[in-house]
Amino acid sequence: MVKARVIETNEGIQNEVAVEMFDVFARSMRDKGWNGVDGMIASGIKGGDVLEVGPGPGYVGLELAKKIHPTSLTGCEISPAMLRFSEKNAAEYGISARYVLGNCMNMPFEDESFDAVISNGSLHEWENPICAFDEIFRVLRTGGRFCITDLRRDVNSLKKTMVYLSTKPKEMRPGLLTSLNAAYTVSEINALLYRSKLHHATVSSDFFGLSIAGQK
Ligand SMILES: C[S@@+](CC[C@H](N)C(=O)[O-])C[C@H]1O[C@@H](n2cnc3c(N)ncnc32)[C@H](O)[C@@H]1O
Repeated sequence: MVKARVIETNEGIQNEVAVEMFDVFARSMRDKGWNGVDGMIASGIKGGDVLEVGPGPGYVGLELAKKIHPTSLTGCEISPAMLRFSEKNAAEYGISARYVLGNCMNMPFEDESFDAVISNGSLHEWENPICAFDEIFRVLRTGGRFCITDLRRDVNSLKKTMVYLSTKPKEMRPGLLTSLNAAYTVSEINALLYRSKLHHATVSSDFFGLSIAGQK
């Protein structure tokens, strides 16, 4: 039986030291190619105006942009400290991304502003995922695509141990466990989607995570 969710945070990652550590971690995930970008492209995410929800230090959207060359890349991030890293990293990539301080449950964008919405590793921190799914629907243009990826809570303990031990820097390991405990299962996500405007989405699971993809 899967243990009940334990909420991790409703405020994103705000602490300066934690943010700096997360940047090192996300950079190492990027270097290993473990960022879910190929899966996002396989789900149908292509160019146009792309929004990344909860970009953190920005590597996922920046790696996607390197591959699909979108018209624009925008990030909506709740943590000012993370925004400083995403801006620095976009400059390093030479990509003119725009990062906006905002909460994905009430995004500071007009209706139908984007051709694609992506997000990785952020969903388990959203206070009200149904509200966030409805916001993603609202800011997408008709025909626009979304792909939201995250951890899943029902991974077995062997996989958990393998990933725990390979997580670097090792100071990030406790955070991996709290994020896993806050993550959803596929059936929980299906139940939430059913009550949202993304109810037609397809949910799939892989080695360590889940993916929600579809089209408006
Ligand atoms: C675990 S990090 C993942 C960062 C990045 N997407 C990655 O894969 O490396 C989750 C990010 O989502 C942000 N976040 C959490 N709740 C949010 C919300 N309600 N609105 C916008 N961003 C949020 C956090 O501040 C953090 O930067």
